[in-house]
Amino acid sequence: MTSLTIRRPDDWHLHLRDCAMLKAVLPETTRHFARAIIMPNLVPPIVTAAEAADYRDRILSAKPRGSKFQPLMTLYLTEDTDVRDLRAAAEIGLIHAVKLYPAGATTNSSSGVRDFTKVKRVLENMAQIGLPLCVHGEVTDPEIDIFDREAVFIDRVLDPIRRDIPDLKVVMEHITTKDGADYAREGGDKLGATITTHHLVINRNHILVGGIKPHYYCLPVAKREEHRLALRKAATSGDPSYFLGTDSAPHTDANKLLPCGCAGCFTATNTMSILAEVFEQEGALNQLERFASLNGPAFYGLPANDETLTLTKGDPVAHPDRIETDDGPVTVFDPQMPLHWHVSE
Ligand code: DOR
Ligand code: ZN
Repeated sequence: MTSLTIRRPDDWHLHLRDCAMLKAVLPETTRHFARAIIMPNLVPPIVTAAEAADYRDRILSAKPRGSKFQPLMTLYLTEDTDVRDLRAAAEIGLIHAVKLYPAGATTNSSSGVRDFTKVKRVLENMAQIGLPLCVHGEVTDPEIDIFDREAVFIDRVLDPIRRDIPDLKVVMEHITTKDGADYAREGGDKLGATITTHHLVINRNHILVGGIKPHYYCLPVAKREEHRLALRKAATSGDPSYFLGTDSAPHTDANKLLPCGCAGCFTATNTMSILAEVFEQEGALNQLERFASLNGPAFYGLPANDETLTLTKGDPVAHPDRIETDDGPVTVFDPQMPLHWHVSE
């Protein structure tokens, strides 16, 4: 196959930040994606409907001229989330999901949830109105090894919540393990999982062998090769449980290249070329549309996009190494392989 036309893809997990960073990174997403679920972990986080509406306006103002990109807003769940405010925001179609960060799990998660019993009423209300919960699925218990935090979260936190509130729609965000992929597949139609581009490409050796590579450090951290292979199998299977959420998370190089650098891989620029390469390697180009364009809308109860995107195979594509922003450069994820799939509309 040398050319592939798919429905226009969506990104079901995206960090756009704000101000200068927003302005610089937004075109990288709007070039290929029609919609994206926008993460609310700004400083301070987006916790109220009014804050989500303002943030949505800032995103729309930063959009390149002529773009029809739609930001799908989320609220950041705290132990003080106001149920009435949340329900009203969902009813008017302002928010499409709520994000659960265990406190301390990742970037700007300090306002997240410490005691899960304190958010039970909010989760019950979300189940009633069919509003999905997007979960950063890692425990923060210092006793638990960082490479085990996803599997332990499923047992200790996620499974008990889902048994307690079976009607709650849950997205396991950026799964990184075979355990996560298996749990998502077996969880019925109220459970889905996003998979990032970078977790299909790197394992933990890429971060640590031959010198430390801060640009491959993200959370949840990449795991062993067997887990990467399980994620590739899941993403390319066509199973409706799995869909694309890039978790494209821009940080300036100055903030990545530190003794204690930030977590995040910036993949908005080359995600579609990388995915085409990965799906081709797996002999599954015919499943790319399901993963990037069909399974996500089906889970969120939205129509697939009418417009299309065409990928054409040719000479290696030249992507920029970095995006310039007024805050400083942001390095684009390096997949360490030539990419042959060119994207056009
Ligand atoms: O690597 C990550 N970066 N993981 C997250 O969960 C948050 C994200 C960010 O906001 O930078
Ligand atoms: Zn994220």
